[in-house]
Amino acid sequence: MAVSFLLEGKVALVTGGSQGIGEAIARAFAAAGSHVVVAARGEGKAASVAESIASSGGRAEALRLDVADPASVSAAFKTIVEKHGKLDILVNNAGITDDGLILRMSKESWDKVLATDLTGVFLCAQEAAKVMLKKRVPGRIVNITSVVGLMGNPGQTNYAAAKAGVIGFTKALAREIGSRGITVNAVAPGYVETSMTDGLSEDQKKSLVGQIVLGRLGTADDVAGAVVYLASDAAAYVTGTCLNVSGGLYIG
Ligand SMILES: NC(=O)c1ccc[n+]([C@@H]2O[C@H](COP(=O)([O-])OP(=O)(O)OC[C@H]3O[C@@H](n4cnc5c(N)ncnc54)[C@H](OP(=O)(O)O)[C@@H]3O)[C@@H](O)[C@H]2O)c1
Repeated sequence: MAVSFLLEGKVALVTGGSQGIGEAIARAFAAAGSHVVVAARGEGKAASVAESIASSGGRAEALRLDVADPASVSAAFKTIVEKHGKLDILVNNAGITDDGLILRMSKESWDKVLATDLTGVFLCAQEAAKVMLKKRVPGRIVNITSVVGLMGNPGQTNYAAAKAGVIGFTKALAREIGSRGITVNAVAPGYVETSMTDGLSEDQKKSLVGQIVLGRLGTADDVAGAVVYLASDAAAYVTGTCLNVSGGLYIG
């Protein structure tokens, strides 16, 4: 059988698909042939991404979803199953930061980041596993973590804890549902130019680039390529791994 990176006939959900890395993943999935559900809290932005994909010949729809809200997650999965009868691929991409040094970090800031970046991954993966197991699809779950979860970063104890948690979660879930043909992997981007990193000053960017082996910040498409691979048949024998897409910022 030929190696295939295509996603023809697949239904994929990309959380946080309305901009940045999630949008690039949604566009790459549609280009690979899958139907993409572009989900975010802001339905307007998700709808314009879905419309833009459709206008260039892809298949996409928008869905309102707050990954930190269990009722919203369960409603979103119900909608997908009612409409498509299955879910083949889940990309847990939605994420936020709320940086601060430990002495000044509020419990609210800690809870907010953990709720979206870690509990949101649990809630969506749990719903996806239910659907994939019931429909007996060889499902794919890809969790977007960060090199910050592997190497730490001052001012991001909440984010680093959440993202390191995602890696442990990925490994445990891979062991739990692998026997049913579902793979679970993580992708750890380094510094990628999106609204999340807009706040970096030119000096900070220059200093970061100095630490990156490949000599540049990442693009959202750099990350999307890794996610398409893990979602495709080409990665059928890959599970429980964390693929580092940081241009060599972190080499573990
Ligand atoms: N940019 C980087 O350098 C970098 C590096 C490593 C890892 N990452 C990770 O990559 C992922 C995407 O980052 P990005 O840079 O593309 O961020 P971004 O441009 O800020 O986009 C975040 C996306 O997540 C959505 N979102 C946020 N909270 C949500 C929630 N509770 N429920 C549903 N959707 C939610 C946002 O839409 P709404 O606000 O409308 O919901 C938006 O679509 C994140 O998990 C991030 O931690 C990014």
